[in-house]
Amino acid sequence: MKGLILSGGKGTRMRPITHTAAKQLLPVANKPILYYAVEAIKDAGIDELGIIVSPETGDDVRAVVGDGKRWDINIEYIVQAEPKGLAHAVKTARPFLEDSTFVMYLGDNLIKDGVAPLVERFHNKKGDALILLKEVANPSSFGVAQLNDSGQILCLEEKPQKPKSNLALVGVYLFNKNIHTAIDDIKPSKRGELEITDAIQRLIDVEYRVDSHILKSWWLDTGKKDDMLEANRVVLDEMTNYVMEGSLEGSTVVSGRVHVGKGSVLKDCTVRGPAVIGDNCIIENSYVGPFTSIGNGAKVSHAEIQHSILRENCQIVDFNGRIEDSLIGVNVELTRGHRKPLAYKLMLGDDSKVEVV
Ligand code: G1P
Repeated sequence: MKGLILSGGKGTRMRPITHTAAKQLLPVANKPILYYAVEAIKDAGIDELGIIVSPETGDDVRAVVGDGKRWDINIEYIVQAEPKGLAHAVKTARPFLEDSTFVMYLGDNLIKDGVAPLVERFHNKKGDALILLKEVANPSSFGVAQLNDSGQILCLEEKPQKPKSNLALVGVYLFNKNIHTAIDDIKPSKRGELEITDAIQRLIDVEYRVDSHILKSWWLDTGKKDDMLEANRVVLDEMTNYVMEGSLEGSTVVSGRVHVGKGSVLKDCTVRGPAVIGDNCIIENSYVGPFTSIGNGAKVSHAEIQHSILRENCQIVDFNGRIEDSLIGVNVELTRGHRKPLAYKLMLGDDSKVEVV
């Protein structure tokens, strides 16, 4: 079995953050989202992985993920010249996939239980495809499945205005080679893309066996800012230990599940987990509250931060205010001129400079 991770697209729903970076490289608990997908594939015993990239962000993805040696697997990069849909991505990957069975994993999705149990189920049931479903409150934002009373799929629709159920298609699919014929048989959708949802519907129409599994554990699609914060919250919440590799100075108090990386200094701070602080950060006279991730090299002073993601090398100096529910890009400089405490909710792209007065 092979793995195929999709890490293309333009990330328009995450701008300005994704003006300068692929959305799949944004960090959740200080680790690129894409690493979670690679690890899930590796943990399922798959060592041949293709990653679909776009011409715009492909080099960044290659630089961050590498050739797979880090995980002891082989990674091949496949450029999808234009974002013409998920099924088009599979078509582009055909020379890599050959006639293998494969797991297709959307690089901005996170699922709690990984891929290994699904691979086992797919092999045991000997079907042509296995799809994952999850009950959601906003089905019209996703592909939607309608099942009959015995759980068989009746039909699938991509982002329907009037969804026939609340079961969304999760971005993890298992296929055998028959999906390629189905993709050859479909036409672009209204949004001009070759939809994988339509290709799976085609499998059903020509009576191939499509099995489905309803996820009970969490699934996160990190397409927007609030989804990223939710992913960060959920992943930090699962962290079980305390790791202190930095130094605590002055009156600093650290409580709960907190990771602090090498070379970081926390002076006169209160940190309440779950939270992660990367390497070589300097945090002074500040409060770091639950569900916060701070990237390597950040400098923070006189600030309160909670339920937020701060990326590498951001500087929030003499801020005298609270930051919450925020996603702050690489190298952002954030300062504030007076001392009246206020709270801010921010989404700042890389290299922003903000002075709040
Ligand atoms: C894609 C699929 C959709 C699926 C979703 C899961 O949507 O087309 O069927 O429910 O991923 O993340 P997109 O993120 O491309 O809008």
